[in-house]
Amino acid sequence: MTDLHPDIKRILITEDQIQTRVAEIAAEIDQDYKQIDMVVLIGILKGAFIFTADLSRKIVTPHSVDFMSISSYGDQAEFDGAVRLIMDLRKPITGQHVIVVEDILDTGHTMSYLYQTLQGRNPASLKTCTLFKKKRDSLDVPLDYVGFEIPDVWVVGYGLDYADTHRTLPYIAELKKDVYS
Ligand code: PRP
Repeated sequence: MTDLHPDIKRILITEDQIQTRVAEIAAEIDQDYKQIDMVVLIGILKGAFIFTADLSRKIVTPHSVDFMSISSYGDQAEFDGAVRLIMDLRKPITGQHVIVVEDILDTGHTMSYLYQTLQGRNPASLKTCTLFKKKRDSLDVPLDYVGFEIPDVWVVGYGLDYADTHRTLPYIAELKKDVYS
């Protein structure tokens, strides 16, 4: 096995495990939407760009892909749950069958904001998908597709970052505490 980057404590979920699960979620979505002509996948930047790309290429149901970019207000110490919209969708979703694609659900504030915002635009249906969900108290948001439940530690890889680094690791890894504390 190749040496891990010095910031990494351990691999939590391997590339193979992720790819297998992404294919399973795609198959579930195909099953659920088999009567539907067209679906809109909304990937949430930046973290979900890799998951959205992989999931999209495995879903057989006809679909388009759009993106939104969301950010938390302030730094970690100031974070009060408020999120802001950095970049909106290119097209309206009124009357469309929409699936929001997130990389991770942590506190749930981002998904809660997205759910309320997108529901307010009157889609024909709205479902949520997250590849990772932390095992911790989070806001009660409807989750339709969840890839893995993971420990409440700082994770990087497969789109997830530490200070915009490590996003392109093909696996999910726990960051060493002394890197961020
Ligand atoms: C991360 C992740 C989710 C959000 C989840 O985004 O990509 O969008 O946090 O956290 P929550 O459940 O506590 O709201 P981040 O704000 O780090 O931005 P990024 O995706 O651009 O890295």
